Amino acid sequence: MNIDGKLIAKELREKLTVEVAELKAKHGVQPLLTVIIVGDDPASHIYVKNKVKQTQEVGMISNEILLPANTTEQYLLQQLEQLNNDTSVHGILVQLPLPKHLNESAVISAINPDKDVDGFHAVNSGRLFNGESNALVPCTPQGCVLLAKHHIGEDLTGLHAVIIGRSNIVGKPVAMLFLQENCTITIAHSKTKNLDEVCKQADILVAAVGIAQFVKADWVKKGATVIDVGINRIITEDGKTRLVGDVDYDNVVTKCGAITPVPGGVGPMTIACLLKNTLVATKRYLT
Ligand code: GUN
Repeated sequence: MNIDGKLIAKELREKLTVEVAELKAKHGVQPLLTVIIVGDDPASHIYVKNKVKQTQEVGMISNEILLPANTTEQYLLQQLEQLNNDTSVHGILVQLPLPKHLNESAVISAINPDKDVDGFHAVNSGRLFNGESNALVPCTPQGCVLLAKHHIGEDLTGLHAVIIGRSNIVGKPVAMLFLQENCTITIAHSKTKNLDEVCKQADILVAAVGIAQFVKADWVKKGATVIDVGINRIITEDGKTRLVGDVDYDNVVTKCGAITPVPGGVGPMTIACLLKNTLVATKRYLT
């Protein structure tokens, strides 16, 4: 069966809409998310357009800063300092990837960790690693856990979560989140020996490896919950392009207990969790 990320994300946004209205009524504060986009990457512009639209739909203020591809690092850092100091701004997101001449890690480090709604700042990674409650947690990993819980239930204690992928954006943080849920965790990756055998042990299998249809049906334990983070564009036999995940969906779907489809699984949850982080950052600012 499918785990319907589109529907679950919509329900989360509806809940956030109510909370944003309550915050406005009680404190007279409307959460404000600033998104900075540098350059003309078409995919990034589509992502940002969706973020802006959904931010406004839940009743938050969206502020978009468009900068040319030749923006200097010094100018970008100055902009971030202004936003850090602006008390009306609760969340700051710099859309990635950045043009090659800009140092991503220097840029992320310049964001105030308490406004870092992507949760990419080392201070937030450290807080997550230490299990501190004031971490802003990366959005896609949060979405993965919410989707797994939607199928399995709130209590994941003792389940074995196998994560394929070790990125700072998905693999490492999602492992920390499942550990917090009392799961046993294994972080595997494309170089793991006997990867199929490792995956077969998973009650929850998270595929975040970036290889189209990589995870095969005989790697999956019967009844497992499969969370597919991949977004890969492939060319089909008739020459058209199609989006597929990191899991061989058509064969895995008959074996597993539940799976997130691509598209319509993890993707919609990422933006919903970004809005959740913006609300969390706003509430923390008020207290
Ligand atoms: N580019 C693709 N996904 C993301 C994301 O979640 N955050 C940012 N900042 N950039 C991205």
